[in-house]
Amino acid sequence: MSITILGIESSCDDTSAAVIQDGYLLSNLVANQDVHRKYGGVVPELASRAHQQNIIPVVDQALKSAGISRYDIDAVAFTRGPGLLGSLLVGTSFAKGFALSGNIPLIEVNHLQAHVLTHFIREKEKSASLPSFPFLSLLVSGGHTQLIIIRDHLDMETIGRTIDDAAGEAFDKCGKVIGLPYPAGPAIDKHSVRGDPEAFQFNKPRIKDLDFSFSGLKTSFLYFVRDKVKENQDFVRKRKADLCASIQKAIIDILLDKLIKASEKTGINSIGVAGGVSANSSLRKTLANEARKREWDVYVPELRFTTDNAAMIAITGYFKFKKKLFATLDIAPVARMDI
Ligand code: KG4
Ligand code: ZN
Repeated sequence: MSITILGIESSCDDTSAAVIQDGYLLSNLVANQDVHRKYGGVVPELASRAHQQNIIPVVDQALKSAGISRYDIDAVAFTRGPGLLGSLLVGTSFAKGFALSGNIPLIEVNHLQAHVLTHFIREKEKSASLPSFPFLSLLVSGGHTQLIIIRDHLDMETIGRTIDDAAGEAFDKCGKVIGLPYPAGPAIDKHSVRGDPEAFQFNKPRIKDLDFSFSGLKTSFLYFVRDKVKENQDFVRKRKADLCASIQKAIIDILLDKLIKASEKTGINSIGVAGGVSANSSLRKTLANEARKREWDVYVPELRFTTDNAAMIAITGYFKFKKKLFATLDIAPVARMDI
């Protein structure tokens, strides 16, 4: 008998629904919320309202493009946290209603675990090599930067984390300093292609063990740009590509330094990268180079599975379904949650 899971993701500013059948993706719909752009960051109240408007059409479209009806769904998996409470509430409430009306199980999913399990989303007619256990994951998103050992689909341990900003936040905040729209990560990636990554140097953090820090780098970038603009008002416009390439390299250096340490410390050479920042083209190239040098097996998600999506929630739900790890209807979303 086949297992069909509906996944719902609403932790931040993307409303997404996906259908996974026996581990294979049938559909994955994402509605982005442009409303935040003019505020330079996500406005929680607006995000929550947009989720309410989007959730039903997005789920409806996900079912249609999967070619199934709601009665074919065996369980509904939803993001319980971490994330914005008002946003999570919309997905959680919808999932509860869907489970109750269809008399099917409800499955809570940790958003961070889901990012890490992205590599296991299979697609028909596409061959994919899946990581074997244990593997090491570098999870880099707008809200999180962590190093995680994955011993099994649902057995994970965080061995390093940021003590302040996340890597994606560093991209976004530095981009804001030079006038790039939110989220600035993709724009920095694009401008960097024409820039010199060695043009400017910024302060490197000295953080022990496998933890990360990005707030010092952000401040160093801010003061550097401020001082240069005092000398020449046109500095940012003229050197945008070099500024982007240099800050991007500084962020990637911090990530790679800790990833190499983690691999050496654990003896694990199977490496996954996940989360929005794993879309970064230079991070992908750097990882591929390190993989050749260090004989790592590197697993990088397809671009559409790097940022928030419900396919990763549905695949996590699928693994939980097989273990009958179901939630009860009194479950509440949580803003903070570890792996
Ligand atoms: O995983 P995600 O969609 O949301 C969170 O769970 O946070 O990640 C969003 C983050 C943003 O900070 C965005 O700037 C960053 O991922 N991002 C990138 C790129 N694409 C998205 N950062 C660098 N280069 C990119 N190409
Ligand atoms: Zn995320």
